[in-house]
Formats: sequence, C-alpha cells, structure tokens
Amino acid sequence: MAHSDVVPPSIEPPFGVYVHVPFCASRCGYCDFNTYTASELDGSGASPDGWLEAVRAELALAARTVGPRPVETVFIGGGTPSLLGAERLGLVMDAIRAEFPLAPGAEVTTESNPESTSPEFFAGLAAAGFTRVSLGMQSAAQHVLAVLDRRHTPGRAVEAAKEARAAGIGHVNLDLIYATPGETDDDLHRSLDAVLDGGVDHVSAYALIVEDGTALARRVRRGELPAPDDDVAATRYEILDSRLSEAGLRWYEVSNWAVPDRDAACRHNLGYWRDGDWWGVGPGAHSHVDGARWWNVKHPARYAAALTAGRTPEAGREELTDSERYTERVMLRLRLAEGLPLDMLDAAGRGAVAVAVDDGLLEPAPFDAGRAVLTPRGRLLADRVITDVLTAPVPR
Ligand SMILES: C[S@@+](CC[C@H](N)C(=O)[O-])C[C@H]1O[C@@H](n2cnc3c(N)ncnc32)[C@H](O)[C@@H]1O
Ligand code: SF4
Repeated sequence: MAHSDVVPPSIEPPFGVYVHVPFCASRCGYCDFNTYTASELDGSGASPDGWLEAVRAELALAARTVGPRPVETVFIGGGTPSLLGAERLGLVMDAIRAEFPLAPGAEVTTESNPESTSPEFFAGLAAAGFTRVSLGMQSAAQHVLAVLDRRHTPGRAVEAAKEARAAGIGHVNLDLIYATPGETDDDLHRSLDAVLDGGVDHVSAYALIVEDGTALARRVRRGELPAPDDDVAATRYEILDSRLSEAGLRWYEVSNWAVPDRDAACRHNLGYWRDGDWWGVGPGAHSHVDGARWWNVKHPARYAAALTAGRTPEAGREELTDSERYTERVMLRLRLAEGLPLDMLDAAGRGAVAVAVDDGLLEPAPFDAGRAVLTPRGRLLADRVITDVLTAPVPR
C-alpha cells in the first residue's frame, strides 16, 4: 500500500502565522537560531523598523496567496521579540489583523526574554490581544545561567511569569534547558521549585544540544566544558516528568507539559506536529501550506531588501514526496501523548510498533485501541522508536 493511501483524507487543517524576530541583545553560546546582535547588523542597513515594514509587506503577500483564511494561532518567536517592546509587537498584531481574519478564540503567543520584560510590557501585550507568553528561563541556578551565557538573574523569569499572569495574560510557559555541564540534580530540583512557584500552566524542557559552530561547541572541543551526558539527561528528564506530573501538569509532547483541560497546550506548536498549515513571516522563517514548503532568506537586510523591491523573500521551496510526508508524520506524531494512529502506518511500521509494545516502549492499551503512544521509557528512547518504525523491513 502506498503511504498516501493510509492517510485519511484531511479536512482543511488549522492555519497559523509565525513571525520571526531576528534580533537579540547578545548571543547565548549554545544558540544557533537565525538571530543577530546590534553590532552584527551594524552597517548592513537592517533595523527593527525596516523589519516591521518588511513584515507588513510579507503579510500582504501571504494574504494575496492564501486568501482570507481565518488565523487560528499566531506565534511571534525569535530571537528576542520582547526587545521590540509591546508597542511594536502590537503593531505586528495590527498588521496581521489588517490582512487576515483572526479566528474567534485565536491563540496569540509571543516569546520573551525575562530581562526585557516588565509589568508595563505585559500590560501592553494584553491590551494588544496576546493570550500567551513563553519565557526563556532555562535554569534557576546562577552557575548554569552563566554557562549558557544568559543575561537574566536567577529569580527574574519566575517574577516575569507572575507579572504576565497579573497583567491578564491567560497562558504562560517557562522554557527550561537541562543537562547543562555543571548542572546537578539539586539544581534542576531548585529550578522546578521556582517554575512551580510561578504558577504557570505550561513548561517546555529541552536537553542541551551542542550545535555545530556555536561558542559552546568550541568550548567543549577545547576541553573547557564536558559534553552533556546522555545518561544524566535521561535522569534529569525523569526528574522533570515526575515533578511536573505530581504538580498536575501532563506531558502532551515529549518535551512539553501543560495543565490539562485549560486549553494550556500550545495550539500553534500542535499545528506543526499534526501537519497543519502555517505561513512563516520574517527572515529565515519556514512555511508549510497545502503540502508545499518554503523558506525565506536568512539575513534581515536581504529579507527587507527583497520585499522593498516588491520581490518575494523566498530562498527555496520543495514539495514533499509521499515518503517524506510519511517520515515526518511518524517523527512528529510519535512524540505526542495522543500518539500516532496505527492506520497512518504501512505494514512495516505496524510490525515495528508491535515489537516496541513487547519491548515496553509503547503503551499496550492505546495500541489495542489503534494508537502508538510512548511509555515513560519509550519517551527516553523516542528517537530509537522512530528509527525502528521508519527502517523496519516490510514483513513477507
Ligand atoms: C531559540 S529560543 C528563542 C526565545 C528566546 N530568545 C529565549 O532565549 O528564550 C527558544 C528556546 O529554544 C531552546 N533552545 C535554543 N537552543 C537550544 C539548544 N542548543 N539546546 C537546547 N535548547 C535550546 C531554549 O530553551 C529557548 O528558550
Ligand atoms: S536570547 Fe534566545 S534566541 Fe537569542 S541567542 Fe539566546 S537563546 Fe538564542
């Protein structure tokens, strides 16, 4: 059976808008995102105002291309969106509303760095219609923040989370990074104490990845820092999951936990993981609409120049083949607590899933009901389960 035959015909998927803010006050040593400091942009002609004009032009291009599709979710990410201030972020929302109808109850998120926020900033966001804020906390331990080159003080992220809630922002996320060299189990416990004190309804936690070409990678190569250890990361993941579960949050994706029944799971990210459609606005942003994917030029000056000249900022595009779509579906949906419907799998994949149930990596009850859902041990070995499902030989 062809992979496309096992995927049920879709109703129109939800549509989201992602806006990429390519500015940061300084670069954290571990980060390889498409972002630039003021000195890196010096002399290039790129500026926040030029970026905003170009974003307006790209939104108009998006509306001409996809028509008046209601926007269910907006996510402003970066980079450091909070560096722009609430007023400019409000102008981004005005620009989206000028081109698209916002669906009733739309989720509107912005990422923010704790050091560039304040009660006034959050009040401005609430007034501009933001419903969700995602704060990069990473750790509550000063020495871990120092290894990560973070600029905020240990208490600032949780203070900011409380300020956001007090300003009427309904949903607040804190991002953690774990298994940073030098972090101890106790450090993570104290970070979790702080997170839980913040009363947030969502937590994302990522094991530190040493990305090629970063300052962190150079420090590890020079022997100044040990590489993060997989066994340590597994223990820390277990600490995170048990502490967050005890506090009433539930995992809904391997790296994401939310309070159940309060619309706290990030609907925008669920759109990515469930094959939704989104238009990515901004330098280096990726889009996925009606089976096509494309991505923009990365440098903010080239991005703005293209739009100012009336050209598309697109740098490349691809139509996914059936087999690539199948691979993506398995990779993304297997990481979700709702699981991967078995009828999305071909015969080889279904065989591998049955073996994973026997190995204790997938839950038996959901399997009997037609879904592949990771067990706690399966979550630690999610990449292995995904590889096994994708590389299993077709049974004879
Ligand atoms: C790229 S940042 C953008 C938002 C914001 N500037 C910040 O730093 O929080 C989004 C999140 O990605 C995660 N992240 C980025 N690089 C990472 C890496 N190398 N390893 C693990 N997590 C990473 C961090 O948790 C971070 O909060
Ligand atoms: S503030 Fe966020 S986006 Fe900017 S360099 Fe640090 S991790 Fe990357």
